[in-house]
Amino acid sequence: IKHIGLFTSGGDAPGMNAALYAVVKAASAKGIKVSGIRKGFEGLIDNDFVELKTKQLQKTMHLGGTVLKTARSERFRTVEGREVALQNIHDNHIDGLIAIGGDGTFRGISLLSEISDIPCIGIPGTIDNDTVGTDFTLGFDSAVNTAMNCIDNIRDTAESHNRMFVIEVMGRDSGYIGVYSGLTSGADSILIPESPQDMTYLLDKIHGYESEDAFIVVLSEGNELSIDRVSQQIRQVNDAIDLRVCKLGHIQRGGNPTAADRILGIRLGVAAVNALIQGESNKMAGICNNQPVLTPFSEIAKQHAIDAEQQSLVDLFCR
Ligand code: F6P
Repeated sequence: IKHIGLFTSGGDAPGMNAALYAVVKAASAKGIKVSGIRKGFEGLIDNDFVELKTKQLQKTMHLGGTVLKTARSERFRTVEGREVALQNIHDNHIDGLIAIGGDGTFRGISLLSEISDIPCIGIPGTIDNDTVGTDFTLGFDSAVNTAMNCIDNIRDTAESHNRMFVIEVMGRDSGYIGVYSGLTSGADSILIPESPQDMTYLLDKIHGYESEDAFIVVLSEGNELSIDRVSQQIRQVNDAIDLRVCKLGHIQRGGNPTAADRILGIRLGVAAVNALIQGESNKMAGICNNQPVLTPFSEIAKQHAIDAEQQSLVDLFCR
């Protein structure tokens, strides 16, 4: 490998800049050049390549988002789009790719590998923690800390007024952000897509509830019931409750990455470069049981589900 093409794709996530820095640092230590591709697959199609320097990236590690910019590309879904992208890869003399993103990103580079033998390695970057092949994705820890701090703030009002709050967190189809932010902020109820029966427990819990205390419900956005439906059902069961709702939204995706996400970015960036050097391709670099591991893209399609231990914690603390 002489020249790596590096890009971020899909939703931005805190820690992506640390991973970019680590890739360039590890590659240059082996005499490998790295070019950045701006806006993910869009930049591959538009030939938007930029030179990356370690010194510049070193100064961005503490920033959220991605300095390479990102996008969700419709054009790359087309054969024509992928052919243009491949031509640009050849024209820029790229002989290895590293892509940072979620499962959509890995599906994208798998499609590229159908028409090319250019080696590709993925790094899981998404706040949702919904990727198999790694215990944690880049950005998850930062998003959970942000959500937890927001819920702590809301608790001040909830406690002062003896109010109930339903707080919606992100996560797409995954309940990870809900479980981690809910447990760490002492939520009374956590509603996640993986566990539809939790609504029944919540309604049982608030039946006859006297509104003499705060009550925090953390709702994952992928839950089968929307925040409006959840509040409606709460009001139907107990109309004496002083209820407010709050969607945390994109606040959770931004902000400086935590130390855990910066270290994860550093480890995954180095692991991805090592994988390319060792001749690996079509695999994602992850950390499982505190060890770097590679998982084929073909196995990433499964959703990283909440495990039995995590569910038992939700049952113990929130039912
Ligand atoms: O995948 C990250 C994520 O923030 C999800 O949690 C959320 O569902 C989605 O992206 C929001 O996407 P967009 O930024 O396109 O609105």
